[in-house]
Order: sequence, then structure tokens, then C-alpha cells
Amino acid sequence: MRKTLLMALLLAASTALAQTHPYLDTRLPVEQRVQDLLNRMTLEEKVGQLTQINVQRLMGRDEWDRGPLNPEWLDRILAKQHVGSLLSGGGAAPQPNTPEAWARMTNDLQRYALTHSRLKIPILYGVDAVHGHNNVIGATMFPHNIGLGATFDTKFPHQIGEVTARALRATGITWNFAPDADMGRDPRWGRFYETWGEDPVLASEMVAANVRGLQGPALGPDSVAATVKHFIGYGSPVGGKDRADARITSAQLRGVHLPPFQAGLTAGAATVMVNSGSVNGVPAHASGELLTNLLRGDLGFRGITVSDWEDVRKLQTVHKVAPTYRDAVRMALAAGVDVSMVPHDAEGFTSAVLDLVKSGDLPAGRVDEAAARVLALKFRLGLFEQPFADAQKASAAVTAGTDLALRAARQSITLLASDGRTLPLGERARRVLVVGERARDPRSQLGGWTIGWQGLPKNEDTRAITILDGMKQVVPKGTQLRYSAGVPGQPDADALVVVVGEPPHAEGEADNPTLALPAADLALLREATASGKPVVAVLLAGRPIVIPDDVRTRLAAFVMAYLPGSEGGRAVADVLYGNTSPSGRLPFTWPMAAAHVPAPYDEPGRSGAPLYAFGHGLSYTTFAYRDLRATRDAVTVTVANTGRVAGSHSVLAFARPQGSTSPARLVTFGRVVLQPGESRVLTLALPLGRLPAPNVSIHVGDLHATTID
Ligand code: BGC
Ligand code: BGC
Repeated sequence: MRKTLLMALLLAASTALAQTHPYLDTRLPVEQRVQDLLNRMTLEEKVGQLTQINVQRLMGRDEWDRGPLNPEWLDRILAKQHVGSLLSGGGAAPQPNTPEAWARMTNDLQRYALTHSRLKIPILYGVDAVHGHNNVIGATMFPHNIGLGATFDTKFPHQIGEVTARALRATGITWNFAPDADMGRDPRWGRFYETWGEDPVLASEMVAANVRGLQGPALGPDSVAATVKHFIGYGSPVGGKDRADARITSAQLRGVHLPPFQAGLTAGAATVMVNSGSVNGVPAHASGELLTNLLRGDLGFRGITVSDWEDVRKLQTVHKVAPTYRDAVRMALAAGVDVSMVPHDAEGFTSAVLDLVKSGDLPAGRVDEAAARVLALKFRLGLFEQPFADAQKASAAVTAGTDLALRAARQSITLLASDGRTLPLGERARRVLVVGERARDPRSQLGGWTIGWQGLPKNEDTRAITILDGMKQVVPKGTQLRYSAGVPGQPDADALVVVVGEPPHAEGEADNPTLALPAADLALLREATASGKPVVAVLLAGRPIVIPDDVRTRLAAFVMAYLPGSEGGRAVADVLYGNTSPSGRLPFTWPMAAAHVPAPYDEPGRSGAPLYAFGHGLSYTTFAYRDLRATRDAVTVTVANTGRVAGSHSVLAFARPQGSTSPARLVTFGRVVLQPGESRVLTLALPLGRLPAPNVSIHVGDLHATTID
């Protein structure tokens, strides 16, 4: 009874407040709420909405101390500077790094912001949850995008997006700096693994699915804002060097780099992050051509454009196109940046914006426009009504999705080469020796952006099933499984499984200009092949790696596992032991030599034949195609499993204009699961505008057809 009375009083009070403050009235359209709130705000308060600060600035004694929130800095950043959004850069976690502590930290920050802002404006909190809620110890880590690309299955980015959004929201995080919509055109680039591979149609479909998963049917209290990043051309830096200038023609910009962004925006992506680098000499952060004409004009984007890390300042310090920081701020805002990921010096940024407006060098309307976009997102996310996370629910949400992660990893694994006898391990290989530290150290399988920015730090641990763990789980009864860090003189085994790969890294640290394997890993493989035993190489890497011919040609099998995440070890084991027939197909071209890249399959004539073509991937069974038909709306083909075991298979349809000699490009794809002897008719949709010309010839495997209306 009392409770009902209290509720009624509260309701009456909030209704009264909503009447005097229409922006609090949930019945009003978002545009109206934004306008009302904006009218009440001072210029300083508006500028705060354009400012994003790294949470470490608010923690401990200094910038890099992760101690408890510091009252002095809370006052300076949130109360005095009115900062509207915070982020945790890679690794900026509370201590202890638990789901509950994350929820408590974001709740404390939110409470502070709400009680110290005159108009009770909640903050947005952003992270890079690029393969699950990957900053949190114990979180489910999904395969990195490059592996998801190999699944050719949009249900994974969609479902992973849903699970990740729930995990984020349960810890009070409302903005995800994902998905990456960059094109993986150059495997030397350190961020190749964050892409979905080299094909624009594949990337577009995966990006759109991930955005839909993260944001749900409409933004609300159960979803997070997605970010398509990094707009645009970031995936083609000269020499594959992170943040180097991208040299791209306007045809490549429109035909290759734009489609994934377009697809992400069509799917509703609320925010766009800008490319840190430059395109044909112009820094993207200062390019009105890209950020206003292309993004707002041509693509019709209406959400928030956020800078990348410290990139407004870098217009002055790195790109040197701005003589002073004040000029850098003016250039970025004028070009179309709405929010600056500052991320350290709030006063420096806000005072520059205030000075620019007061001196008439930046129209006040530009600040209004950007602040309005930020406020609109806060309303859409339901933050004014539900600003806090329920810490009780955080742990369950963050650790959810292990089965999904396992299925995704299993479906990604790509069998590159096989002697047809050694895999799956079984009857002939009763004694298996697993070799190499990476088989039992999860760092390589988790990759960068895992607990730490550069991957799992040496002194930290997170839940993961290593390859050795996975093999122990599935080793058939009556067979033997042993482990050795190095290759023994005379291995007492029927087969060696040698796990090699790259150490985890991120961004420029992950650039690999020679596409080489670390020397110690290569030595391990070389010794293993010299032992005379059949060697299965398992590669944990986010890119194609060039293994010298004398070693590679002596492998019994070569398995590409990508960066398969926390369940990756079990997925590899399932493929090795034949519980799953491998079905991943390469989402990129595997070159013969590093000197041949960049050489994506749709850009002909750069180099010789690749070692493994785009779409390559072997299976334990065989598939045959028949009855290919194509209209302008769909490709239909019958797929049969002509082998002896069950398997799933991705069907890729390519098209080129009739009579053209240019390479055929992927236009649609789909997936079937077939028992031995089973066949199925598969219909793959062709969205409007997908075909390159009115009359095209289509091929699926060796079958060809021409489109008929
Ligand atoms: C990366 C972005 C990321 C940001 C925040 C930058 O260095 O380029 O992808 O979202 O840091 O961590
Ligand atoms: C942050 C990352 C960020 C990087 C940019 C790191 O200190 O943790 O999130 O991407 O700096 O340089």
C-alpha cells in the first residue's frame, strides 16, 4: 500500500518535472526533447558534449594509474568541463577487473555526472568491444573478425553483436567502437585481423549484420550504439604501415572502401569513427570532402562522427596541417568531426572550442549541431530514464555466449592443405605429439584487444581453452596425446601437431611487412618436418603468413585457425580429430611472397598466381554443384555432398560483365549443411544494384550461367 503511494508520488513528481522540462518527457519525439534541452544549455555545457575523455584520466594519481576514481579529477572533468562521454581505451579497466567492478565504476561515474550537471545529462561510455566484451577478465572472447569472415555466415556477426551488446549494457557501457568496416586489402597492415577480409560484399554483409546485432531493431535500453570505423580508406595504407597515407583512386574509394560503411549506415549504425591516417595526402580528420560531402551529403548520415584517439591534436603534431592546436580543433570541427576522443586534456580541447566560437572562427551552430547529435543518441539509448547498470547481472552477461563462440570458431577454421591421410587424426595416428608453446598459451589465439590493448598481458590471465586443452577434451579413447614445447630428437609419435603463430599485437605494433613467422616458430616447424613424421601445422595468425617452400611443402596438413578466441582451442581440436569437417574459406588471397602484396583477387595483374586463392578451403568430404541458374534477383544452384562424412559448405557466387575479362567478383554467398549423399537447392539473393552490369555471367565453382530476367 505504502509502496503504491510512493510510486504514485514519484510518478506525479516526474510528470510535473516533465511538464516544466519537456526534454524529460518520454512521450515527446526525440527531436523535440533535444531542442528543448539544447535551448536550456550554456555554450560551455554544449561543448562538453563534444568532448570525450579516457577514464584513466579520472583514476588514480596520474594518467596511467588505474587506482580508484579521483574526486579532484571527477570535479574537473565531469563537473567543471561538463564532459559528455568517457571511454576505456584498450586495457583501461577498473581494479579488480571484474564484470561487477565495471558496472560499479560506470555507475559511480554516471551518478557523479547526473548529480553534478545542472540539467542531469547522463554520460555515454564507450569501449572497443571488438570480439566480445574483451577488456574484461573472464569475458567470452569471440574469434576476431578475420576468422568470422572465413565463416561466410552473417548469423555469427549478428548473434555476436547481440550477446556483446547485452554484456556491455550490463556493465553500463552504451557505445561500442565496432564494427570495423575497413577493407583488409593489405595483409601486412597490423589491423588486417580486425577486418572481414578483402572482399567488399563479404565485409558489407558482415558489418551490417553486426550493427543490427549490437543495436537491435531500434536503439533502446537493451542495446548499444555501434560505430562503423575508420572512415575511410584506413585499410590501404602505403606499404601496409598503420596510419600511413592511403593512395586510392576515387573508383577504389567508391567501389571497394565505401560499401561496408554504406551497409553499416543502412543497417542503422549510430556513429562513425574517422580514419587516423590520410587519404591521398589529406588527413581524414580535416577532410570536409570525406566527412561532410561524402558522409553527410552522399550517404545521408545523421548520427555522430567521432574522432579517433587524440587525432584532432595530431592534425598539428603528426600531420602538421594545423599550425596550432586551436587551428587543429577548428579544422576538425569544420570538416565534420562532432565528438573529439581527446582523450587526456579536457580543458585544452574545450577552451579551444569556446575561444573559436567566441571569436567567430567557428559558427556556434556547428557546436549546436554536434551537441544535438550526442543528446539525440542519449535519448534514443534510454539513458535519461535508465542511466544505471544492474551490477548483479553483469557477470552472467559478460561470460555468456561460449557456445556461440565455439560454433563460430569451428566454422572459421580453414584447411589450407592436406595429404588426405593425416587428418582427421584417428586410426592412423594413435600417438599424437603436440608441439609448441602456443598450444598451451592462449595469448596468440586471443589476439590483440584482449584485456590489454596489445593482447593479454604476461601478468594477467583470462578464461580460455587452449589447443592443448581442447585436444585433451576430445582425444579418442585408446589413443595417446602428449605435449612438448620443442621437437624431440626422435619423436615417439605417429603425427606431430605443431602450433605456430604470431604474438598478439594491435595497430602499428602488429604490422608485419614481410608476412614472416617469428623465427622460433619457423625453426620449430622446420625441425618437425625434418623428423620424418607427418606434421600438421596449426597457424594462429590474423593474416596470411608466408612459410618458406622447403618447410611448407613438407607439411602433411596446414590448418589456418586465425585468432579464434576463448573457445578456439576446442574448435581446433574438433577439426583435427574430425568431430567437425572444416568448412572455413579464405576471406583473402594468400600470396606466394610478401613482395606480391597488396594483391586482392579483384585487382588483377599485380603479381603471379596466389598460393591459395580467395575462397580456398578444403573439407573432409566433397561437394558438387549442378543446375546453376541466375536471374537479376537470385542465383540458384544445387549442392550435393558427394563424400563420406557430413559437412557444411559456403557457396560463393561470382559475377563479371558479359564479355569482360576483368576478374569476376563475389556477388552473393550462402551456406548449406549436408549429410553424405544429400543434396539441396540453394537460392542466394542478389540485392538490387549488386550486379556490376545489366548482363553478367555468373559462376559458382566451375559452373557458369548468364543472368536472365
Ligand atoms: C583505434 C580505434 C579505437 C580507439 C579507442 C584507437 O587507437 O584506432 O580503433 O577505437 O583507439 O581505443
Ligand atoms: C589505448 C588504446 C588506444 C591507443 C592509441 C592506448 O594507450 O589504450 O585504446 O587505441 O593508446 O594510441
